[in-house]
Amino acid sequence: MKLTVLVLGAGLLCAIAHAQKFEGLALTPPMGWNSWNKFGCNVSEELIRQIADAMVSSGMKDAGYEYVVIDDCWHGQRDHLGFIHPDAKLFPSGMKALADYIHSKGLKFGIYSCAGYKTCAGRPGSRGHEYQDALKYAEWGVDYLKYDWCNTEGLNAEGAYMTMRDALYAAGRPVVFSICEWGQNKPWFWGPKIGHLWRTTGDIVCKFDTADTRGRWRSWGVLQIIDRTAELRAYAGPGHWNDPDMLQVGNGMSANEDRAHFSMWCMLAAPLMAGNDLRNMSAETLEILTNREVIAIDQDPLGVQGFRYSAKDGLEVWFKPLANDAWAMCVLNRSTTNKQFVFDWKEQKVYDELIRRSPQFDKFAYRVRDLWAKKDIGTTAKPLIAEIPGHDVLMLRLSDPKPVVAGDAAALRGPRTASLRPTPN
Ligand code: GLA
Repeated sequence: MKLTVLVLGAGLLCAIAHAQKFEGLALTPPMGWNSWNKFGCNVSEELIRQIADAMVSSGMKDAGYEYVVIDDCWHGQRDHLGFIHPDAKLFPSGMKALADYIHSKGLKFGIYSCAGYKTCAGRPGSRGHEYQDALKYAEWGVDYLKYDWCNTEGLNAEGAYMTMRDALYAAGRPVVFSICEWGQNKPWFWGPKIGHLWRTTGDIVCKFDTADTRGRWRSWGVLQIIDRTAELRAYAGPGHWNDPDMLQVGNGMSANEDRAHFSMWCMLAAPLMAGNDLRNMSAETLEILTNREVIAIDQDPLGVQGFRYSAKDGLEVWFKPLANDAWAMCVLNRSTTNKQFVFDWKEQKVYDELIRRSPQFDKFAYRVRDLWAKKDIGTTAKPLIAEIPGHDVLMLRLSDPKPVVAGDAAALRGPRTASLRPTPN
């Protein structure tokens, strides 16, 4: 009896010791590439190797893209012990060899599974095999797991994701854990302690604007995803991000739309997972995906998601606080026609309720840089007048605030909260 109690107690202690996610990962939103948006089930080791090569040769790696993630359909069968194996026709060299190849390029390797008994495309899911799958992933050298939510009838979402989190932790190899639950069970409430990012909506389609599809898990347009994710900014921060889904840049929208989509993902501090064919992209697509000054907005170490400051006649003004008293500002034209934008900074009272900070345009002149034109365009001392094409953005970085009246410098460091990480209710 005593021995049973001891053994049970030790088991419980072990479980408690393992009840955590890998901390210190994804302190800025993860960046990489994922196969699904462009290739669906047409994945193979040849494709993934070529994508890894292209990630390096195109300059994507140097711009910060790191994870190469195979989405659904890599799976073969489970063996008689229940361990999963890749489809031997598609991945004849096996996953370890593929991971080694990706690692040899200085990149990281990601894979996909599902909390249900089958994945969304009908391949074997992890339900009932979580610990075995996590062991395999560690053996192969997996650094990132996207974990889906199909065929999960009767499962509690928080519990199911916690089981996989614990399995990954027990396997011992640090893994970024991407919760792909489409926002159905409000993962922003429980996600931060379980994973490093969580999807906020159903699947992104390659459309800028769709009819409101709320409630449906497929076909969310870029604008609909922005609206949903905007409501959730309090939950995002270093190590735990809202995930508005993978990028559709280069997959068929206009250049304006791609630019707006990419800019807004950066304003939302979203994970940047390219979803196009990196082996074959236009100069325009590459230029959008690798604009380092725009990426720097996404990757800013403060790790605070941007907010919608105003909306009028189809024009929205967004702000995102950055480190070192800088701000990103993005003017999004949701309409299909060109719009005149006039903004007299001194009359604007911008205030971030989340971190209690304000740019105080009446007291300080910020240097203004246009991040797509890649040039400085003056300071906030003079009103901004711009023409913004339909479905496009004007994206600015405001930095180096200088007092308009000498002696006002102290006011810049106005009231701050003790912590930049408020606990959302
Ligand atoms: C779901 C996910 C997608 C993708 C597919 C794969 O729809 O939300 O991102 O992973 O499954 O089948």
